[in-house]
Amino acid sequence: MTYAITQTCCSDATCVAVCPVNCIHPTPQERAFGSTEMLHIDPGTCIDCGACADACPVDAIFPVDSLSAPQREYAAINAAYFTAEEPEPVGAGPNFHSWGAPVFERGLPSDFAPIRVAVVGTGPAGMYAAEDLLLHTNAEVTLVDRLPVAGGLVRYGVAPDHPATRKVGDTFARFHSHPRVRMHLGVAVGEDITAEELAAHHDAVVYAVGASADRRLGIPGEDVPGSIPATTFVSWYNAHPEVAADAVALTAERVVVVGNGNVALDVARILVTDPASLAGTEIADHALAALRDAPVREVVLLGRRGPEHAAYTASELLALTHLPGVNLVVDDHDPRTGAAIDGADGVGGGKAALLRGLPREPVDWSRAPGSERRRIVLRFHSAPLEVLGADGVRGVRVTEATAEAGERAIPAGLFLRAVGYRGVPVVGLPFDEVTGTVPHQGGRVDGMPGTYVVGWIKRGPSGGIGANRTCAAETVGTLLADAVAGALPTPTRPLRAFHRLARRRGRRRGRS
Ligand SMILES: Cc1cc2nc3c(=O)[nH]c(=O)nc-3n(C[C@H](O)[C@H](O)[C@H](O)COP(=O)(O)OP(=O)(O)OC[C@H]3O[C@@H](n4cnc5c(N)ncnc54)[C@H](O)[C@@H]3O)c2cc1C
Ligand SMILES: NC(=O)c1ccc[n+]([C@@H]2O[C@H](COP(=O)([O-])OP(=O)(O)OC[C@H]3O[C@@H](n4cnc5c(N)ncnc54)[C@H](OP(=O)(O)O)[C@@H]3O)[C@@H](O)[C@H]2O)c1
Ligand code: SF4
Ligand code: SF4
Repeated sequence: MTYAITQTCCSDATCVAVCPVNCIHPTPQERAFGSTEMLHIDPGTCIDCGACADACPVDAIFPVDSLSAPQREYAAINAAYFTAEEPEPVGAGPNFHSWGAPVFERGLPSDFAPIRVAVVGTGPAGMYAAEDLLLHTNAEVTLVDRLPVAGGLVRYGVAPDHPATRKVGDTFARFHSHPRVRMHLGVAVGEDITAEELAAHHDAVVYAVGASADRRLGIPGEDVPGSIPATTFVSWYNAHPEVAADAVALTAERVVVVGNGNVALDVARILVTDPASLAGTEIADHALAALRDAPVREVVLLGRRGPEHAAYTASELLALTHLPGVNLVVDDHDPRTGAAIDGADGVGGGKAALLRGLPREPVDWSRAPGSERRRIVLRFHSAPLEVLGADGVRGVRVTEATAEAGERAIPAGLFLRAVGYRGVPVVGLPFDEVTGTVPHQGGRVDGMPGTYVVGWIKRGPSGGIGANRTCAAETVGTLLADAVAGALPTPTRPLRAFHRLARRRGRRRGRS
C-alpha cells in the first residue's frame, strides 16, 4: 500500500519536509513547484509511514486503499506524475529521488535584539509571514486586520463545502495566541490607523492585504440588477460582515457565470449542489435558506478560450464530475472545443483531456432548462458581449463563431462575473493601477525602507493558499537581510503606545 495526495492539496509543501524518503514532488526546490496544481507521492518509493498524512493541514493525504470512490483516481494521478515522459529536469534523473542541497532557514544572528514587526492582514500570506518570523527569529509581531474575524479568504473565500481546506485556518490560528503576538481585529490600516503611525511604532511593516476588489468586463449592462461580481456572491454565502443577506436574489432557473477559474467553479458548484448537503457546513444561514428556495436548474460557465486553456485546476474540475444529482455537459457549439477534447490524449493530455467522456451536445438556448437533474454547462470559445435587461438581467449576449450573426443570446436571470480579483490601494503605499499590486523588489516596497508586501497584493490575485508560503519566505528573507544590514528605520514610538492606539481606534469604529 502507498499513500496518495488528493483534491484539497494547496501545495504548501508541509508534507515534503516530513517525508523520510523524499518521495513527494515537486519540492519547493524543483522548478515545477512554481506551476504545479498539487504535489504527488511516488508509489514506488513511499514506505507507508503516514507522516505526511499527519502533517497535512488540509487532510489531503490518504492511504490509497482507503480512498473514497470520487477520490480513487488520485492514485493514478499521483503515480502518473512519476511516469510522465518529460519529468521535471532537476538533474536527478526521471524519478528525481535525490536529496537537494541543504537549505538553511532564514534567521537573525543570536545576539540580534528582537525586532518589532507589524503584519497587516491575517489571511494566508500574513500568517505564513508571521509564522516564519516567530519560528525563525525572536521578533515581536503585531497582527492587524480590518475585519472582526481573522483568516482572510480562508474564512471568507474558500467554499463552505471544502471544510478540509478551511481547516488550514486552525493551523494559522495557533499563532494568534503566540506569546510574542498581539492581534488587533477590526482595525483598517489607511483608515483607522495610518501607515505612518504603524511604521513609527515598528521596525518593519509587512502588508498582506490581499486583493479584495473585483475585475470588471467593461460591457454594456454590467451593472443592471442581477449582474454581480463573484466576489459579492462568495462573500454572501460565506457571511462576510460587509455583504448584506439580501445582496443576492436567486429567482431564475438559469445562471450565467463568466470565467473558467476555480472561483467560477466554486460559485457554479454552490448554486447546483443539493442544499441539504450544505447544511452543517459553515455556509451563511441566509444563503442556505435562499438556495433551498431557489429555482436554479442550470449554470452556464463561459470560457473565452478553449478547454485546453481553462484556468481551473484539474482537481476542482474532477470534483464537479462527481457532484451528486448534477450533470456536467459540454456545449458543442464550436468545433474547436470537440477537436481539443478529442485530440487530447489521456494522462498528460492537459486540461482538455479532463472532459473526455462527458456528454457533448449543441444546447438549444430557446428551451428552458430541464426539470430533471440540475446541470452545469461548460461553454468554451464564448465571451460575453452585453448583459440584456433594463431593470434586471434577462439574458446575456455572447460570441459564437459558428452562428450567423457571430453571436447568440442566452436567456438567464443572474449573471456572475468570476474574472478575477483585484488589489485595492492602501493610503500611504505606492500602487500600480495596471496590475493592482504594490511595486516591490523581493517583497521590499519601492522607495519605502522597512515596508514589505506579501501574498496577492504582492503577486496579483492568483495562486492557492500554499503559494503564499513560498511568497512569504521570500519577503521575510528580504526583511531579515535588511535587518542584518542595518537598513530598517528605527521606530520612534514604543510598542505599548501602538497597542493602546489600536484598541482606541478599533473601539471608535465599534469593532474593538
Ligand atoms: C473565492 C476563493 C476561494 C478560494 N479557495 C481556495 C481553496 O479552496 N484552496 C486554495 O488553495 N486556495 C483558495 N483560494 C486562494 C487563496 O484564498 C489565496 O491564495 C489567499 O487567500 C491569498 O492570501 P492573502 O493573504 O494574500 O489575501 P487574503 O486571504 O485576502 O487576506 C488579506 C487580509 O488582509 C485584510 N486587509 C485588507 N486590507 C486591510 C487593511 N487596509 N487593513 C487591515 N487589514 C486589511 C483582509 O481583511 C484579509 O483578512 C481561494 C480564493 C478565492 C478568492
Ligand atoms: N479550490 C481551489 O483551490 C481554489 C478555489 C478558488 C480560487 N482558487 C485560486 O484563486 C486564484 C484566483 O481564482 P480566480 O478564478 O479568481 O482567477 P483565475 O484563475 O485567474 O481565473 C479567471 C478567469 O476569468 C477569465 N477572464 C478574465 N478576464 C476575462 C474577460 N474579460 N472575459 C472573459 N473571461 C475573462 C480568465 O480567462 P483567461 O484564462 O482566458 O484569461 C479565467 O478563466 C486562482 O489561483 C485559483 O486557483 C483556488
Ligand atoms: S507515507 Fe511516509 S514515505 Fe509515504 S509519502 Fe508519506 S511521509 Fe513519505
Ligand atoms: S496541502 Fe501541503 S501538506 Fe497537504 S498534501 Fe498538499 S503540499 Fe502536502
